Amino acid sequence: MSFVKSRLPAPRKVPLARTPTPLEPLTRTSEALGVEVWVKRDDQTGAELMGNKVRKLEYLMAEAQDQGADLVITCGGEQSNHARATVMAAARLGMASQVVLRCDDPASPPAATGNILLDRLAGATITWITRPAWAQRNELMAAEADKARAAGRRPYVIPEGGSNALGSWGYVAAAHELADDLATLPARPTTIVYACGSGGTGAGLVTGAKLAGLAARGVRVAGVNVCDDRDYFVAAITRITGELTSRWPLGVTVEPADVEIVDGHVGLGYAKSRPEELMTIRDVARRDGVLLDPVYTGKAFHGVVTELARDRRRFGERIVFVHTGGMFGLFGGTTPAELAAVL
Ligand SMILES: Cc1ncc(COP(=O)(O)O)c(C=O)c1O
Repeated sequence: MSFVKSRLPAPRKVPLARTPTPLEPLTRTSEALGVEVWVKRDDQTGAELMGNKVRKLEYLMAEAQDQGADLVITCGGEQSNHARATVMAAARLGMASQVVLRCDDPASPPAATGNILLDRLAGATITWITRPAWAQRNELMAAEADKARAAGRRPYVIPEGGSNALGSWGYVAAAHELADDLATLPARPTTIVYACGSGGTGAGLVTGAKLAGLAARGVRVAGVNVCDDRDYFVAAITRITGELTSRWPLGVTVEPADVEIVDGHVGLGYAKSRPEELMTIRDVARRDGVLLDPVYTGKAFHGVVTELARDRRRFGERIVFVHTGGMFGLFGGTTPAELAAVL
């Protein structure tokens, strides 16, 4: 059932994403992997605002507007797609932006490549912090917001990845879109697979899949974590869904047993690529002309490839891979040189 017809008590959103996004077959990748693979093109939710973050920002930026904000503050890793999407969304809506970004050495911040270049292009104020300081990111953003208020501004703070109950509405809606997409295909044991980085996409998809009746139709939802581990994300996703279902009366609850996380594919660590992950990105580009990113979708899809090599029926007969975007990460940091090495 479509999201609109579902009459869920959805909060207001500001239209930023080009949706519905297409669901397309990866024909030659499917042949190579021996299982039907489709891709939900959430990398086509926009250009500057491309990827999964835009679906969340539609709801978050509406709340920022409703609170009269003139400045949006958020945080992320140095090549954060969420930070870049937030900066662009703020510019689109006439607000200023400030991003708190994590790096090795704030005294010598990384070069302006990839998403950092776009943050700067769109006029964001960047506050660089160390990896140890990242543990205090929420306190730091609150302190930045206090400073801004003292200077007469009206800040709105968005947590890491836009991953809170409000932001997860973006993927509650996307799950309904996926239900509509799947209704056009023959029924077949299917797994919707997504890259999991802070849990908001997973929280929305798992809740939305229940609401849209996907779970009842035998469609699973599985996240491949690109950092941390399974326990971390089961806890993070049930926390966000708990906030979601207690703030809005949805008539469903999400238990830890509902959250499927495919662990074991973090590799060298968050935003660090192994040659085999880059080769998977290369293979998908060559076989089907689709670009994955090194930090999220490429790593997660490489996890899928690895799992299938062990068990071709691991995800049933059909995989719907949610392409959550991130393409600018191909042009950031050391990635261009590392990628060139596998061509
Ligand atoms: C391209 C891309 N894919 C996936 C994710 C993971 O989404 P989430 O943070 O909602 O788990 C992110 C951000 O973290 C992202 O930028």
